[in-house]
Amino acid sequence: MIQINSNFMRLPESYLFSDIARRVREFAGANPTVEIIRMGIGDVTRPICPAAIEAMQKAVAEMGARETFRGYGPEQGYDFLREAIADHDYRSRGIDIATDEIFVSDGAKSDTGNIGDILAADCRVAVTDPVYPVYVDTNLMGGRREPVLLPCTADNDFCPDLPAEPVDMIYLCYPNNPTGTVLTRSQLEVWVNYALRHRALILFDSAYEAYISAESTDVPHSIYEIEGAKECAVEFRSFSKTAGFTGLRCGYTVVPRSVKALDVISGREVSLNRLWLRRQTTKFNGASYVTQRGAAAVYTAEGQRQVSETIAYYMTNAATLRSGLRECGLSVYGGEDAPYVWVKTPGGCGSWEFFDRLLQLGVVSTPGCGFGKAGEGYIRLTAFNTLENTRRAVALLRGL
Ligand code: MLT
Repeated sequence: MIQINSNFMRLPESYLFSDIARRVREFAGANPTVEIIRMGIGDVTRPICPAAIEAMQKAVAEMGARETFRGYGPEQGYDFLREAIADHDYRSRGIDIATDEIFVSDGAKSDTGNIGDILAADCRVAVTDPVYPVYVDTNLMGGRREPVLLPCTADNDFCPDLPAEPVDMIYLCYPNNPTGTVLTRSQLEVWVNYALRHRALILFDSAYEAYISAESTDVPHSIYEIEGAKECAVEFRSFSKTAGFTGLRCGYTVVPRSVKALDVISGREVSLNRLWLRRQTTKFNGASYVTQRGAAAVYTAEGQRQVSETIAYYMTNAATLRSGLRECGLSVYGGEDAPYVWVKTPGGCGSWEFFDRLLQLGVVSTPGCGFGKAGEGYIRLTAFNTLENTRRAVALLRGL
């Protein structure tokens, strides 16, 4: 009889955010008069920035005319977008990234999961705890062992300690999802030096780098700001939380040619860039031309101004949450360089119990334990709702 990939049986019954969506649906069905304020999944509420919309409208018109129609594009992305990324996100910060080290995709979520395809199934994975569940689940699906957990709590100021046992792949997400905290340059240096020393690979998810405030000059936007990172790190970025692309889908992954890993069969070191190209050209047909035109417009002066405005808006929400919840007597972390606010539940209340209490008020959060054991006793709120709803949520929480 046909057999399943039994690794799927090692996963929780459902994906965290699907589980929350189901509970919210049930609650809304049973309580139709309660207005729901969604601060659970990190989905944005402001529309796609106008510069991207205008560029996509032009691209749609091109696709409808015989002279300008385009069929299959390059799987790794059009040069117009890869060059804009290299110039704006890297060269402008003094980081030398070549366009063929950039791979445009349908988002960071897929790439952080798919990257495991090019690495050995017996690689040992380390993740921070709490963590974005995609890193854990996709590695279990690929047959890897349970990851080594690196607890990040208020006790260690949300800065993970180096693993006590050898690991090969280390997922770091900074600014962090879910805690909203950051690592300073010297804290990130410790990790790069570890990876170089142990020949490990850092998978650096910097989907939220645009949220680092101008005052936080000691917080790196890219791991490649750290010396040696081009030998040991792959970086993931996204247009979701900046230009509003959560429903449109576009992101990119940087795989420097200098990042190498061992092929145990030949005993040779192989460039991950070559393997990722091979993987993408086989399993992926590229983000759509229209989407990539939209993404490229984000890098125009107008696009940048619009994105900054959106981020400032969400960060006003984050500040509103931080101060409002503190006034309620809650301990609050993150939310200064990230759109997530991490809240300690009061009186030793469990994460799901506190989630339910907030849901009764109509406020949707994410229970911290959904991100891992060390997240128990916390909940996460996002700053992605409207300012009005954020204020309403704070007012409702005051009544707790
Ligand atoms: C989250 O809520 O953690 C994010 O929205 C997940 C994602 O970006 O896929």
